[in-house]
Amino acid sequence: MSIELAPGLCPPAQRSADCSLDRLTEALEGVLRGEEPAEGPAVAALLRDYAASEETWRPYVHFREDTYSRNLVWRCGDFELLLLCWSEGQASPIHDHAGQQCWMAVLEGELEELHFAEPKGGALLQPGRVKAFPQGGVAYIHDDIAVHLIRPRPGTRAISLHLYSRPIDACRTFCGETGVPAEVHVGYHTVRGTDCGGADPALIREAWQGA
Ligand SMILES: [Fe+2]
Repeated sequence: MSIELAPGLCPPAQRSADCSLDRLTEALEGVLRGEEPAEGPAVAALLRDYAASEETWRPYVHFREDTYSRNLVWRCGDFELLLLCWSEGQASPIHDHAGQQCWMAVLEGELEELHFAEPKGGALLQPGRVKAFPQGGVAYIHDDIAVHLIRPRPGTRAISLHLYSRPIDACRTFCGETGVPAEVHVGYHTVRGTDCGGADPALIREAWQGA
């Protein structure tokens, strides 16, 4: 059976050299390609430079009232790049990153990151440091550092660019009161700026294989 998806949910035949966001994905491919270890400072520098001077992310902006939104910009075997839009009062669950690396660049507004020590043997979550990232700031996390929660500064909304290397299709979330983990499969609200309409993320990922 062939996969039927709206055109916007499949990768474009080629990226536009005129679009700085597409050029960023190409540059990231060069840094994160294959089996080479990720070059953390180089990745952070690419994201910081983009966040400081570019606006080509705006067509991907998609705020929702029910949840923060996950909007796919680009996906390949080595990484996934998403734009996340945070309305006032929204927050991520406390979550891990499935053993992968995650960078977050703030494009608009200000985001707070709350670290927690992962509970062992049924213990409660141990709150760690809280750090604010203003527009242009770049955060980095890995499971060896902490699990975390992301939210916009109270009373404001924010937009951020998230790079996962490699792509994360499922992770664990943790109950803030009990520390009990749960496996969660993550999906998308838009792909390349097109509303997914609730399409199965597994089908979207299959369509992107080989991008
Ligand atoms: Fe995260």
